[in-house]
Amino acid sequence: MTAIERVGVVGTGTMGGGLVQVCALAGADVRVVASGRAGAERAERRLAQSLDRQWAKGRITEAERNAAVARVSFGTELKSLADRRFVLESITESLPAKQDVFRVLDEVVEDPAAVLASNTSSIPIASLGSVTRDPGRVVGAHFFNPVPVMPLVEIIGSLSTSAATSDRAEEFVTRTLGKQVIRVGDRPGFMVNALLVPFLFSAVRMLDAGVADAEDVDRGMTLGCGHPMGPLALLDLIGLDVIVAVGEAMYAESRDPACAPPTLLLRMVECGLTGRKSGRGFHTYP
Ligand code: 3HC
Repeated sequence: MTAIERVGVVGTGTMGGGLVQVCALAGADVRVVASGRAGAERAERRLAQSLDRQWAKGRITEAERNAAVARVSFGTELKSLADRRFVLESITESLPAKQDVFRVLDEVVEDPAAVLASNTSSIPIASLGSVTRDPGRVVGAHFFNPVPVMPLVEIIGSLSTSAATSDRAEEFVTRTLGKQVIRVGDRPGFMVNALLVPFLFSAVRMLDAGVADAEDVDRGMTLGCGHPMGPLALLDLIGLDVIVAVGEAMYAESRDPACAPPTLLLRMVECGLTGRKSGRGFHTYP
């Protein structure tokens, strides 16, 4: 195993769980850091369940499933990532919380050539690098939900990210994980969310204005434009709380009203209707 395959994943939400799975199936030695003991145990259970589903569908063998499980260890301490070569941060979309993680990673990850990557959807990579002594190691590696299925990763270098770090991130994502990369600028929403978020928010405003009901907004885009799922179903998949945080970060920097989360979305999050993970968003999930 090459040194870069010692991977750390910080965060055990939907995206973090997906990252752990793809890294483990790709043969990496993965150490996961959760925010607490209960989170670590939940993440361990979810990984086993998800791999069991892959096995049941015949996509992996029992031996591959067992080997992947054996490659992953779970804990709660960032200092356990000291020997990692590639760290993927995937915690909640909050600037202060992410900066706290990067401050510690900067101190504990020993290898000066290690890659400290954030899976942020919208927070400037420069703002994460700025709290470290060596922002050259800090880069964006933005995966898409569901991580095991979507082939793209955006690699985002800030003005301080070293070329070697961006190259190593691209190599890991393409050669080890087998995904495809686009290199994009450290601008609000990077590339994909800069296009996607205004589109998704327009769909919510349209629903709120009574132009069509939720089913028909989604049918319009699946049947009319060939999208794999409609915008409201996609919002439910991403998580309404997640997209609100993404929109707020993009709006704070760009002041583009198209990125400001619509009121209906804010109200739904206040009521706990966060999409698939809560069982109800624009649609319901039994
Ligand atoms: N984990 C692993 N595999 C999964 C999965 C998951 N969470 N969800 C779906 N799959 C697999 C299924 O098992 C299936 O594989 P198979 O054909 O080999 O059995 C395959 O994906 C297709 O799934 P389904 O048949 O259940 O359902 P669909 O054909 O409707 O596909 C979808 C589901 C892949 C989610 C598809 O609808 C899609 O591509 N939707 C768009 C997703 C998208 O746009 N994602 C980007 C969101 S934006 C983002 O993440 C950025 C962030 O910053 C906000």
